[in-house]
Amino acid sequence: MRAASWFQPHPPYAARGEGCWVVDIDGRRLLDCANNFFSLIHGHAFGPVLDAVREAMTKGTAFGMPTESEILLAEALAARSPRMEQTRFCNSGTEAVLAAVKGARALTGRHRIAKFEGCYHGAYDWVEVSLDPAPANWDDENGNPASVRCNAGTPDSVLRETVVLPYDDPQRCADILRREGRSLAAVIVDPHASRAGTVPMTKETATVVQAACRRDGIMLIADEVISFRLSFEGASPLFGLEPDLVTTAKIIGGGLPIGAVSGPADRMSVFDHSTGKPKVSMGGTFSANPLSMAAGLASLAHYCQSAVDRMNGLGDRLRQEVRNGFAKAGVAATVTGMGSLFRLHLGPDEVTGYRSAFANAEKAKLTRRIHLAMLNESILLTPNCSGALSTPMTGAEVLSIADKLVHVVERELSARQGVAG
Ligand SMILES: Cc1ncc(COP(=O)(O)O)c(C=O)c1O
Repeated sequence: MRAASWFQPHPPYAARGEGCWVVDIDGRRLLDCANNFFSLIHGHAFGPVLDAVREAMTKGTAFGMPTESEILLAEALAARSPRMEQTRFCNSGTEAVLAAVKGARALTGRHRIAKFEGCYHGAYDWVEVSLDPAPANWDDENGNPASVRCNAGTPDSVLRETVVLPYDDPQRCADILRREGRSLAAVIVDPHASRAGTVPMTKETATVVQAACRRDGIMLIADEVISFRLSFEGASPLFGLEPDLVTTAKIIGGGLPIGAVSGPADRMSVFDHSTGKPKVSMGGTFSANPLSMAAGLASLAHYCQSAVDRMNGLGDRLRQEVRNGFAKAGVAATVTGMGSLFRLHLGPDEVTGYRSAFANAEKAKLTRRIHLAMLNESILLTPNCSGALSTPMTGAEVLSIADKLVHVVERELSARQGVAG
C-alpha cells in the first residue's frame, strides 16, 4: 500500500467510484475530497474519460511508436499557456521533476538546485531535501533553513547540492539567492505548495525568485503538479512567474498515470534527440502511452475556463463557510487554500508557510482524530485534513463538507478541552 494512503487503525478499501463519491468494500458511500491525491478533477468514472480510454484501448494499449494522441495532448497544453509551448510526457510528477532538474543542469552547466522548505516535489533525492524537517533542525548556524535529510541514507553530497529557501520570508530568500545564485542550475517552486501549508506564496517571494533567476541565469522550474488546476493557464501566471520549465501531472492525465515537462522551444531543446544524442535523454517504456494521453485530453477538454471558474468559486465558498463557522463557534482553527484546494489548520495562528503550518505531536494527533471523525461523517479527506473539489460537486456538497468540518472540529476541540480540564 502507498504510504500516503495508510492511516490508523486502517484505511477503508475502495470498491468503486461514482462522480464525487467513492464506495468502499463495505458498501459505504464517501464524499471524496481526496480524489486520488487531487488527480481526479472530474471525480470518478467520468463519462468522457471512460469513452476516450475505451476507444483508445480497442486500438491497442501501448506501442513502441509515437501516437497522434501525444501530439494532441501537448497541443492542448500549449493552447492553455505560452510557457508550455512544447511538452514531453512521462508517467508521474516525480519523473517530470527529475527530468526538469536534469534539463536545468544541462542548460546551465551547474548542478546545485534550490527548493523551498517543506515543499513536496516527488521522490527525487535532491527535491526531497528538507521535505519534513522538525523545529530542532530547522536552522543552520546562520539562521537560514538547513538542508535536512528526509530519507535515511541520502548522501551528504545531496544535502550540499540543495539550497533550502524559506517560503514566507522574501528578504531572507533574496539574501540566500544573492549568495548562492551563481552556483544554481534551478530554483524549483510550487507557488501554492500543499506541504507548506496549502497557502499561496506571497507575490514578494515570487518576485524575488523570478528576479534572482533572471539575474543569475538560473532555470526557474514551476512545479504545477497540483497547482496547475488553479487557473486555465496553470498557477504561474497568478504569481507573475515566467518559468523556464513547467512540470505537471495528476489532472492532465484524467485519472491515469502521467507526468509532463513543458517549456519554450529553446529550453525544451535540451531534450531534443532529433539530430543525435540529446543533452538529456527522456525515455520510459510507458511514457506518452495512448491511454493516458486519451484520458488527459478528455479531462482537459472538460476543464475549460467556465469549469475552472466554477470550481474556484466553489472553493472560495467552502473556505468562507468554514471560516464563518469557526468564527461563530469560537473555534481556534482555520482553513487555507486557493481555487478548489483547501486544508484545515488547528490553532489560532495565521498560517503563512511550512513552519507556521507545522503540526506538533499534539496537533498531529488531533488532526488524525478529525480525519477519522470526518470519515465517520462520510467525508474522505487526505490524512492531513486537506482536500480538493471535483467538477461533479455542487454547492450542496460544498455546504455539507463545510458544515461537517465545522461541527467535527468544534466537537473534537471541546472534547480535548474537556479531557484537559
Ligand atoms: C507538487 C508536486 N510535485 C510532484 C509530485 C509527485 O507526483 P507523482 O506522485 O505523480 O510522482 C507531487 C505529488 O503529489 C506534488 O504534489
